[in-house]
Amino acid sequence: MKGFLVSFEGGEGCGKSTQIKRFIKYLENNNHEYICTREPGGTPVGEEIRNILLHSKDNLSPKTEFLLFSASRNKLIEDVVKPALDQGKVVVLDRYYDSSYTYQGYAGNLRIEDIKTITNFAISGAVPDVTFLLDLPYEEGMNRKSKDEALKNLDRIEQKDKQYHDSVRNGYLTIAKDNPNRVVVIDASQSPEQIERIIQAEFISRHKKY
Ligand code: TYD
Repeated sequence: MKGFLVSFEGGEGCGKSTQIKRFIKYLENNNHEYICTREPGGTPVGEEIRNILLHSKDNLSPKTEFLLFSASRNKLIEDVVKPALDQGKVVVLDRYYDSSYTYQGYAGNLRIEDIKTITNFAISGAVPDVTFLLDLPYEEGMNRKSKDEALKNLDRIEQKDKQYHDSVRNGYLTIAKDNPNRVVVIDASQSPEQIERIIQAEFISRHKKY
């Protein structure tokens, strides 16, 4: 795989989408060939799985959720990510397996060893070259969200309680501690411009070495 794999992670309302848009603009302006895709989803089957995960009226256990995420993930890696990396492209992922470790593992109470085994099976070696974690307390994230979105529009996962989302945040920080070379923790309460500059600087220094 010759390309460069970048993932973005963070809790609700952390500004992930804004930063991904800005990063893509930067890639375009600097003539990097890239693709950007989202998890869960990114393939036709993945989008169907996404629909189940976000809107199913059935009660999904953390185990079922995780297996659905992993199926979507494997399809995305094999059909989209690996071919793009083989062509030397930058691949930008809006969430990746760290989301499963946090949402289904640390917050959903699945065993981390199980997540690890199944994730390694699903991703076939596609570990990110860098992961940007936009870190924000849950209350701040929800404040931001409710400004531009009516609460009734929150999806199934977003509606879970504060305790769950606090565990998500702590889970992310644990992952960052365990993977200090891969994961860059960014204080997401900074201005979008400041965050954008940090992301670009990290990308430039890591991409050069690559
Ligand atoms: P999405 O609408 O993409 O949310 P966001 O804009 O916050 O990325 O919904 C994805 C939801 O799925 C989000 O709440 C996180 C959750 N998720 C998991 O629980 N596990 C996973 O492995 C992934 C990829 C996402």
